[in-house]
Amino acid sequence: MFTNTHAHIFTWVVALILFVAAILLFKKGLAKQMKIVHMTLRLFYIFIIITGAGLFFNFASIDHMMYGLKTLVGIGVIACAEMVLVRMKKEKSITGVAAGLVITLLITLYLGFSLPIGFDFFH
Ligand code: HEM
Repeated sequence: MFTNTHAHIFTWVVALILFVAAILLFKKGLAKQMKIVHMTLRLFYIFIIITGAGLFFNFASIDHMMYGLKTLVGIGVIACAEMVLVRMKKEKSITGVAAGLVITLLITLYLGFSLPIGFDFFH
């Protein structure tokens, strides 16, 4: 589970879908349904961190600096996603945190895919 990136990718793809679903439900005024999706998303934050940390402890010796950076920015993505949803619920402006989310997500995807483990269907 921690020797390849499949579980890790699965957790953040599901989280991304749940994040979009939570926003759509909120926009439709379905607060109760949104709350359930938001709680499930929080569970997936934990799965992302567990699978990411597993990869980190297995592979960080390859390049401490880049793996450390990937981990930090990855946690930044989770923090921004959470702040977008919480601020949206409180009807506060989300421009800053949404921009932060896009930027940290792009950097995380770039670092993730450029780091050495890579995605290989046959492993
Ligand atoms: C929503 C947040 C995150 C996203 C979108 C994300 C995305 C990715 C992607 C695209 C990869 C490369 C997969 C591959 O090449 O097969 C990856 C690998 C990895 N991620 Fe994440 N990640 C996130 C959060 C985290 C967190 C919180 C941690 C640490 C606790 C972490 C640690 C790692 C490690 C160590 C790797 C292996 C890098 C390698 O390919 O050598 N990630 N992640």
